Amino acid sequence: MKQSKITLSKDYRIAKVDDRIFGSFIEHLGRAVYGGIYEPGHPAADENGFRRDVIDLIRQIDVPIVRYPGGNFVSGYRWEDGVGPVESRPRRLELAWSTTEPNTFGTNEFMRWCKEANTSAMMAVNLGTRGADDARNLVEYCNHPGGTYYSDLRISHGVKEPHGIKLWCLGNEMDGEWQMGHKTAAEYGRAATEAAKLMKWVDPSIELVLCGSSNSGMRTFGDWEAATLDIAYDNIDYVSLHQYFDCRDGDIPNFLAKSCDLDNYIKTVVCVCDYIKGKKRSKKKINLSFDEWNVWYHSNGAQFEKWSEAPHILEDVYDFADALVVGLMLITLLKNSDRVKVACLAQLVNVIAPIMTENGGKAWAQTIFYPYLHASRFGRGWALTTLLDTGKHDTKSFSDVPDVDALAVWNEEGEELTVFAVNRDLAEDELLTVNLKDFAGYVPAEQIELAGFDLKAINTADSQNVKPTAKALSGVYDPMPEIRLRPLSWNVIRFIKK
Ligand code: AHR
Repeated sequence: MKQSKITLSKDYRIAKVDDRIFGSFIEHLGRAVYGGIYEPGHPAADENGFRRDVIDLIRQIDVPIVRYPGGNFVSGYRWEDGVGPVESRPRRLELAWSTTEPNTFGTNEFMRWCKEANTSAMMAVNLGTRGADDARNLVEYCNHPGGTYYSDLRISHGVKEPHGIKLWCLGNEMDGEWQMGHKTAAEYGRAATEAAKLMKWVDPSIELVLCGSSNSGMRTFGDWEAATLDIAYDNIDYVSLHQYFDCRDGDIPNFLAKSCDLDNYIKTVVCVCDYIKGKKRSKKKINLSFDEWNVWYHSNGAQFEKWSEAPHILEDVYDFADALVVGLMLITLLKNSDRVKVACLAQLVNVIAPIMTENGGKAWAQTIFYPYLHASRFGRGWALTTLLDTGKHDTKSFSDVPDVDALAVWNEEGEELTVFAVNRDLAEDELLTVNLKDFAGYVPAEQIELAGFDLKAINTADSQNVKPTAKALSGVYDPMPEIRLRPLSWNVIRFIKK
C-alpha cells in the first residue's frame, strides 16, 4: 500500500481561519432566487415566500456570508427597483443573462432571508452602468439609522433598524469585456476609488472589495491587479479572485490537479498586493476575497427562452469527481487562509450550486454539498501548516502533483483537530500516518468519507447516490495513528481530546 505522512504542530499555525471563507453567493440569475430561495406558494414556503426546505439545507452547512445580488447581474442593476411596495416595482430586461427580472425580491427581502438562513450579507454595488452616487445612496439606505432621504426611505419601506451590512463589493468582474460597463484598469481604479471614498464617508465601519481579474487566464491578469491597486490601495480592504474549473476533456487526473493552479493564482495575487504595498511604503495589508469559485461546465450550452423569467440556466448537475475537486479547492483555500479571508462557493442554490430544487417540488443536496458542509462544520479554528510527505505524479498540465493533499484545522476551544485529505490516486489506497506527538491526548474519533462511487455518479431529487459515510475510529491515543485513504476519496479525520 502507498504511504503518506503528515506532521502537525500547535506551533505551526497558518492563521485563525476567518469564518467568512465558508461563504457562498446568490445572484439574480436563473432559479437562484426565484424558485430557489424564494418561491411563494411552494408547500415549504413561509409567510415571506422563503423556501424552508432550502433554508434547512443551508443551515446544515452553516454559511456565514452570502454575496448578493451578483455577479454579472449587478452591473446593470438599479437597486431602487427592488425596494418599496412590490406592486409598483418595475419588470426589467436583464441584459447580463437575457432574462426578465420581476424585482419581486430585492434588498430588504434578501436581508430578511439572511436572518432566516442564519447568515450575513456581502453586498455588491453596480459600478458597470452606474457609479459612486448610487453606491453611496445604497449604503445610506442600508446602513444609516434615519433622518435622511435614503434612510427614511428604508424606514418608510417598513425596515426601522439599519441592516448594518459590513462587507461590500465594488462591482463585479470589471476587467471582462462581457461585463456591462466594462472598464480599463485605469478607468475602474478611478471609479472604484471614488465609490469607495463616498461609501466609507457614509459608513466608515464598512469593508470594501476591489475587483481583481475574472480568472487567472485573463490577458490582463497581474497587470490589472497592479494597476487598480496602485490607484485604489488606500481606500479598499480586499481584492477579489474568481475561478471555475472544468473537465471538458474528461481527463480526471488533470482535473484533480487543477487545485495546484488555484494555489499559484492565490500566491501570485498576494505577491501583487505586497508589491504595491512595498511600492507605496504602506503599512496596510490587502487580503483576498475569493468571492467566486467552483466547478462549472456541465450546463454550458444549455438553451433557454430569451427574456423568460427565472429559466433553468447554469444548472450544473455535479458528479462525484466534481466533489473531489471542490474538496481540493477547499483544502487550498484553507492552506492560504493567512491571506484569503473571504471566499464564496458560487453559487448556493440551483445555479452552479450545492443545493438544487424543483419548482413546486423537492430540494436536495448535490455531490459538492458534502465537502462544503464538512469544511464549514469542522474547518473553523487554526489552520495548521501540514508538513506532508507523499508521492508525486505528473498530469497533462501539471508536474509534481501530490498524490495526497491534506490540511489540518485545530479548534483550540473545542479541543478538536480535523484533517481534511483527498487521495488523488485512481486505484490505490494510501496509508496516511498522522504525527500527533504535539497533540498528546488527541484520539482518533471518526473518519467521514466520500469514496467508492463511480466518478460520474450524481444525486437527484429522489436519490442521494453520493453521500458520506462515517466510521468510528479507535478512540485510543497513539502518537502515530495510521488512517486508510481509499482511492479517489475525500476524507474528514476527526481527533478529539480525551
Ligand atoms: O457565477 C456565475 C457568473 O460567473 C457570475 O455572474 C460572474 O461574475 C461570473 O463570470
